[in-house]
Amino acid sequence: MMGRFSVSSLVVAILCLVTREFVCKGETQLVICLEYDREALIDLKRGLKDPEDRLSSWSGSNCCQWRGIACENSTGAVIGIDLHNPYPLNFADSTSRYGYWNLSGDIRPSLLKLKSLRHLDLSFNKFQSIPVPKFFGSLKSLQYLNLSNAGFSGAIPSNLGNLSNLQYLDVSSGSLTADDLEWMAGLGSLKHLEMNQVDLSMIGSNWLQILNKLPFLTDLHLSGCGLSGSISSLDYVNFTSLAVIAIGGNNFNSKFPVWLVNISSLVSIDISSSSLYGRVPLGLSQLPNLKYLDLSMNNDLTASCFQLFRGNWKKIEFLELGSNKLHGKLPAPLENFAI
Ligand SMILES: *[C@@H]1O[C@H](CO)[C@@H](O)[C@H](O)[C@H]1NC(C)=O
Ligand SMILES: *[C@@H]1O[C@H](CO)[C@@H](O)[C@H](O)[C@H]1NC(C)=O
Ligand SMILES: *[C@@H]1O[C@H](CO)[C@@H](O)[C@H](O)[C@H]1NC(C)=O
Ligand SMILES: *[C@@H]1O[C@H](CO)[C@@H](O)[C@H](O)[C@H]1NC(C)=O
Ligand SMILES: *[C@@H]1O[C@H](CO)[C@@H](O)[C@H](O)[C@H]1NC(C)=O
Ligand SMILES: *[C@@H]1O[C@H](CO)[C@@H](O)[C@H](O)[C@H]1NC(C)=O
Repeated sequence: MMGRFSVSSLVVAILCLVTREFVCKGETQLVICLEYDREALIDLKRGLKDPEDRLSSWSGSNCCQWRGIACENSTGAVIGIDLHNPYPLNFADSTSRYGYWNLSGDIRPSLLKLKSLRHLDLSFNKFQSIPVPKFFGSLKSLQYLNLSNAGFSGAIPSNLGNLSNLQYLDVSSGSLTADDLEWMAGLGSLKHLEMNQVDLSMIGSNWLQILNKLPFLTDLHLSGCGLSGSISSLDYVNFTSLAVIAIGGNNFNSKFPVWLVNISSLVSIDISSSSLYGRVPLGLSQLPNLKYLDLSMNNDLTASCFQLFRGNWKKIEFLELGSNKLHGKLPAPLENFAI
């Protein structure tokens, strides 16, 4: 059976080379999953509670065609599991189908058999207050992990620090906590970190130094995490690729982080409602790529509007500085602004 399949895929591959467009369309159907990976998924399914039968397609021999499963074309190895709930809670819309696709139950360690797993998305499910499994830290090939608002609770296990290939980590959730972030130093490939609403009030003041060790970080989202303590200085800016920093809704009680003006890649800054005080550095208006700046509701930030708005603001599209102590007149005309 397998032998015949290899021969036929070889024929298709040759036809593809010869005729390009025509024959190649059906190529995806020829990916047949590894039996070993299929069995792992079947065991995973056994542990899950699936009231809406989302996983009804998880039967039969070719797991590459099951809902949410992605396979590597050349080997048939399972590389992606996307079980996110596409109907998350939407307060504005009472007809929202939230809960319709909620998964819960146990996540079995059979997941570890998927040696090639690169992408795992369990976001917006209802894993009822179980902890994030420690063994997730052993999914060595993982590049994308999304556990956002999936119902997990308790401390995020430091084992996740073993995921040295991880590029995207989203653990945003009001029911998760972290006592320290030292383990993040192991996430050397990380580009995108989202931990909104995670209770980080216990992590102390060195979190910034730890994250500053992640050289590829482009997106940092730590909104409403109960962070406190000074963020005003860094000896040396290591995250030179940072494009998005969204750390509003914390309680820093700190002077403005002046080192931000050294990061020319910044596109978006949100440090609203975070008890910042002191001067807004004029260098912000010189950041060549900055499109979005929200520093509203800090109450005690000061700036001379005249000086600040004499800057270039080359690409600015959104600027919110309300509820602070800005003073002075605006220099006219503000060419770059649509007011
Ligand atoms: C597998 O092949 C299909 C069709 O050619 C392509 O769209 C898809 O991106 C490929 N997937 C991977 C992981 O290479
Ligand atoms: C999941 O959704 C079903 C149907 O909408 C609902 O009956 C059930 O209570 C939900 N489960 C959880 C754990 O919220
Ligand atoms: C994680 O999933 C949520 C909901 O499905 C989505 O809004 C969010 O953008 C995802 N995070 C990342 C980093 O892709
Ligand atoms: C990394 O994994 C090893 C086992 O492979 C484990 O002993 C260690 O505790 C893990 N480290 C972290 C930070 O999770
Ligand atoms: C900057 O990043 C490099 C490479 O990750 C690391 O070796 C170094 O310790 C970092 N420096 C600081 C001050 O964190
Ligand atoms: C920011 O740039 C200025 C001027 O180049 C330099 O003096 C300062 O040390 C830099 N600060 C950091 C934190 O890298």
